[in-house]
Amino acid sequence: MDSEKLHETAKALVAEGKGILAADESSGTIKKRFDAIGVESTEKNRRAYRDLLFTTEGAADYISGVILFDETIRQSTEDGTPFPKALDKAGIIPGIKVDAGAKPLALSPEETITEGLDGLRDRLEEYRELGARFAKWRAVLPIEGEHIPSDYAIWTNAHALGRYAALCQEADLVPIVEPEVLMDGDHTIERAYSVTSRTLQAVFTELYDQRVDFEGMLLKPNMVLPGYDAGEQAPHDEIARATIKCFKRTVPAAVPGVVFLSGGQSDEDATARLNAMNALDEELPWQLSFSYGRALQAAAQKAWSGKAENREAAQRAFYHRAKMNSAARTGAYAPEMEREAVTA
Ligand code: 13P
Repeated sequence: MDSEKLHETAKALVAEGKGILAADESSGTIKKRFDAIGVESTEKNRRAYRDLLFTTEGAADYISGVILFDETIRQSTEDGTPFPKALDKAGIIPGIKVDAGAKPLALSPEETITEGLDGLRDRLEEYRELGARFAKWRAVLPIEGEHIPSDYAIWTNAHALGRYAALCQEADLVPIVEPEVLMDGDHTIERAYSVTSRTLQAVFTELYDQRVDFEGMLLKPNMVLPGYDAGEQAPHDEIARATIKCFKRTVPAAVPGVVFLSGGQSDEDATARLNAMNALDEELPWQLSFSYGRALQAAAQKAWSGKAENREAAQRAFYHRAKMNSAARTGAYAPEMEREAVTA
């Protein structure tokens, strides 16, 4: 394990003004996204779509890294350059999703455990040879009533995250550790706070026990907010304060960065809330950045709609969201900026 290289990569992924594009949708998820814009999910269409994202001129000003899916890391740009190589050439760090998805948890079938540990050491080796320098594993924890997630689901998922993260570091890949407490549901912000706190405590206990080097990893969490069906949403400032309070008590200062998932928030909410956190008058030990999937891509997907002639409009939409989220990294974002003219 090359600790120095891991620390350097982790820091580069949360470099000033930059964040991560999560373009690692599994075959099932990308089909859902394509269905929504009336595009057939063929290998050719998926390649064309990822191509337009990855070759957007100037994206590297705001995007530090891209998370790829197994199919995508093996695909190439129009001119035949493998995607990882093209990204690297543009100054963007290639990464890879390595979990095999959330499956029913034994004896608690309404909850899930993320699988993918079998054979992971060999797969990491192959991904590194294909150009990956960091990896991602997502655990999924929905909030339902008073008893879900159970401690059982929290601890088994935390243990798997620990095993994944240790294997990644051994392979010189920076692990992005993603325990996603779902923001769907009608729970209160207080319940989101307590479940997220419990989850992060368990995750960092497992990471510590499994000898994970905190300086060589990133955390990818949800924000702490009321469930989407809870009725009235909290103001951005309240969400920012609750999220930061939770992290200050659970996330070690040695972790270089927290890169949020967007998890179904609107594009502008995801940006405004990240901005609100970075605008708080508080000294924080970690960089607060983004690793958004939907919140960086939804507008681009709509603009593209599967048509080659819309490629540039889609790139403009993606570039714009990347730029807005970059501004949110320093608390400099304002909703008026959404209306500014943008050029890709
Ligand atoms: P969203 O930002 O769409 O939640 O996706 C991020 C991600 O990588 C989920 O694993």
